[in-house]
Amino acid sequence: MTPDERRTALETIATGIRGCQRCRLGATRTNAVPGDGHPETEVVLVGEGPGQNEDLQGRPFVGAAGGFLDELLGVIGWSRREVFITNVVKCRPPGNRDPEADEIAACAPWLQQQLAVLDPALVVTLGRFSMQTFAPGTRIGQAHGTMRPVDPATGAQDALAYAMYHPAAAFRQGGLKETMKIDMLGIPDALTRSRELRQEHAPLEIAPATTDAAPDDTMSGGVDEGVTLAEDELAELVALGADGMEDPMHDRDQMGLFQ
Ligand code: URA
Repeated sequence: MTPDERRTALETIATGIRGCQRCRLGATRTNAVPGDGHPETEVVLVGEGPGQNEDLQGRPFVGAAGGFLDELLGVIGWSRREVFITNVVKCRPPGNRDPEADEIAACAPWLQQQLAVLDPALVVTLGRFSMQTFAPGTRIGQAHGTMRPVDPATGAQDALAYAMYHPAAAFRQGGLKETMKIDMLGIPDALTRSRELRQEHAPLEIAPATTDAAPDDTMSGGVDEGVTLAEDELAELVALGADGMEDPMHDRDQMGLFQ
């Protein structure tokens, strides 16, 4: 998918969300909050649902919790412009109550579609409702600051989920602020690990040799099972450095985190 196609696909999904009436939250919202951020990002942050400020502005994490989220991203030198931020439910539950199971289920296809388009390497879950979506059966007290593979049924085809407390929890329990900053420091490593795994899973797309070489003139690429490279292609790949040339992540590393 080209950047333009991705941007358009995300906007189409956002338009669908803004007109959605699949659950009762559609009747009480001021604005739906589809989410926003960099369409080419490798990292998607998923919160619980919009609060009052988000409902009024139609944008995620623009209230006090959002201010703390910005501060947390700053701990690793990131900003919200470099990631994509969205929520499990896209409309505000009245009075900021917890989203109900049927509301989460009704909204799930929107998040699935967003993740399918964004194809993130890392999903950062903010709070227990988000964590339950990507790591069912885990407890936030144990899981925070740790990562686990994501079920592709969530829409994220090849991603790790990294669990964090919800930023708003730090206002209720002061000690969590420090814990969250420490957890934040684990994110670059989690992203690096996910990049490595995706590299291992990625099929190496190289055109078949056009020479009429006999089968024993070819050699195994050794990069991925079942890939066969002609000798000259292999030599060229080695000379260029496999990383820079064929790494599908390379073009997308707009964050430049690990250089
Ligand atoms: N809390 C959330 O979970 N999401 C928002 O967008 C704002 C606050």
